[in-house]
Amino acid sequence: MADFDPRALQNVRLERDGALAIVRVDRPSKLNALDDATIGELDCLFSALDADAGIGAVILTGAGDKAFVAGADIGVLAKQGVLDGKDNARRGQALTLRIEQLGKPVIAAINGYAFGGGLELALACDLRFASKAAKMGLPEVSLGIIPGYGGTQRLPRLCGAGRALQLILTGDPVTADEAERIGLVNGVCEPGELLDHCKAVARRMVSRGPIAVALAKQAVRRGTQLPLAEGLLLEADLFGLISSTAEMKEGMAAFLEKRKPSWLRG
Ligand code: COA
Repeated sequence: MADFDPRALQNVRLERDGALAIVRVDRPSKLNALDDATIGELDCLFSALDADAGIGAVILTGAGDKAFVAGADIGVLAKQGVLDGKDNARRGQALTLRIEQLGKPVIAAINGYAFGGGLELALACDLRFASKAAKMGLPEVSLGIIPGYGGTQRLPRLCGAGRALQLILTGDPVTADEAERIGLVNGVCEPGELLDHCKAVARRMVSRGPIAVALAKQAVRRGTQLPLAEGLLLEADLFGLISSTAEMKEGMAAFLEKRKPSWLRG
């Protein structure tokens, strides 16, 4: 984080807890809705976290207990024309791609409303856990627009085309329990337990080999875009690559010597 100062952020907060970074979108007056400035801040922050070898996993959540992120900022969307509409979508998509491609796991802690661009941010994360009180949806068609930060592409890949089309074409929200039933979230927690649960899951990932976790994420993320034969080749290439690392030697030696592995981070 050499030339990046998180204290300069206006709408996003960073908290560090050991090797975990907790990123909070913090625009309470607009239920954490994403305007250009907030998207830019998240993009810079995720870029800095990617480069920070001291960070092993990231948790993304919303400040306060009402909203994760209530969507793209409708006040901004209302003014857009064809060209700025496309630019807006590309900026939001670039952020979601950065999160999806981050070299470390990202968990969405969905603590409240996750609508539109908010749900699309969560869809780019590797895992999603929701508070029992959360509501999620892609309500864009009820505003006369379509999802533009990846929702039409990632939701069907996660939940299947039928379920995605139901959510996208009706614009109806789902409860946390329904979201879990359709595979949209990995689990549901009591509101007061959500962050601790996400931290516990993140710490388990951070306790594993950091290169192994990064390459396993890459294998899944890139592999789901490929035909099976190419995905298997990618997996074999990455398996070969990890076999050249000191991390692999340490993992194997620790098992054989019946001790905990000592990973090098950075
Ligand atoms: N963009 C801009 N402002 C938003 C917003 C968004 N996506 N979501 C909420 N806000 C603002 C409201 O306009 C309101 O601002 P105001 O106090 O200046 O009028 C403030 O946040 C609080 O929202 P409010 O609607 O009063 O809260 P609520 O508890 O009654 O309802 C929601 C909460 C989430 C159901 C409701 O705000 C909503 O439907 N938001 C839009 C969700 C959406 O369609 N997102 C997709 C956008 S593409």
